Amino acid sequence: MNKFKMAVSALAIVAVTGTANAAEILIKFSHVVAENTPKGIMANKFAELIEQRLAGKVKVQVFPNGQLFSDQKVLEAMLLGDVQLAAPSLSKFGKYTSVLQVYDLPFLFKDIDAVGRFQAGPEGQAMLKSLESKGLLGLGYMHNGLKQLSANNALLKPSDAKGNKFRIMSSNVLVAQFESVGAVPLKKPYAEVFTLLQTRAIDGQENTWSNIYSKKFFEVQDHITNSNHGLLDYMVVTSSEFWESLPDDIRPVVKTALDEAILIGNDVARDKAQSDMQKIIDSGRTTVHTLTDEQRAMWVEAMKPVWAEFADEIGQDIIDAAVASNIE
Ligand code: LMR
Repeated sequence: MNKFKMAVSALAIVAVTGTANAAEILIKFSHVVAENTPKGIMANKFAELIEQRLAGKVKVQVFPNGQLFSDQKVLEAMLLGDVQLAAPSLSKFGKYTSVLQVYDLPFLFKDIDAVGRFQAGPEGQAMLKSLESKGLLGLGYMHNGLKQLSANNALLKPSDAKGNKFRIMSSNVLVAQFESVGAVPLKKPYAEVFTLLQTRAIDGQENTWSNIYSKKFFEVQDHITNSNHGLLDYMVVTSSEFWESLPDDIRPVVKTALDEAILIGNDVARDKAQSDMQKIIDSGRTTVHTLTDEQRAMWVEAMKPVWAEFADEIGQDIIDAAVASNIE
């Protein structure tokens, strides 16, 4: 190949891969949500910060909407070196560790500030390392928000959910949560939820306002209950092998950029929990219900036995620490 042809083919490689030079470290960041969500915005911000600070040395490619991997596959792919960063919801680590199940216990945290206090405390921080024996490392938590229940019938009291099929994330605590009200939980990938709801193959689901809005679930559900009954937060993970392979002068820069992007993502999460709820209400496509204190107490009473069911697997001390985080 002459020099001109070589230069042209090198340019073609750059165009196809988006990677400027072979010496660059490529970080593929795979996630399943839309780009206009807290996690989508955080991932893009992280890529931008890395571009500003480590151009020519590190490049981040973000793959949103499950384009690269579903959450069911992403951690295996990470261990194989096919992806370097992901931020699955805390409900999706059951195959790797049981302590993270604490985050799925219904009606555990009173608000996102309580979640933040628990994550920043000793138990929350130790959990970032709970995947180490499996070759994975938690680099930080990120908020999405509290979950809401939706269905084609109004869910005002627990018996309203009886017999309904609900899509859940892959968590056994969530199985128990829906079974506690006589509903039928089905573990399904995020990418399938809209179609399952649209075709009425399932009756309902639980998710945050930003996910319900960005994936248009509200357009195919007649009712949403502002239940705040559970949490959907994330852990940003990498493989220990990849993390340790980063040069010592690069690793802290990557970590700082990630921490900054997470803070921005957390602010977005807080805003969207309000603004996306409002957009859904304003759309008029669904009815949003607010529970009375009495109705809420009925849901708590029905679902709370799930805590005892998982106390041994999670550790009562961890559950106690999470409860204590509700006190400012
Ligand atoms: C879900 O599967 O519902 C969520 O984990 C999606 C997400 O990443 O927020």
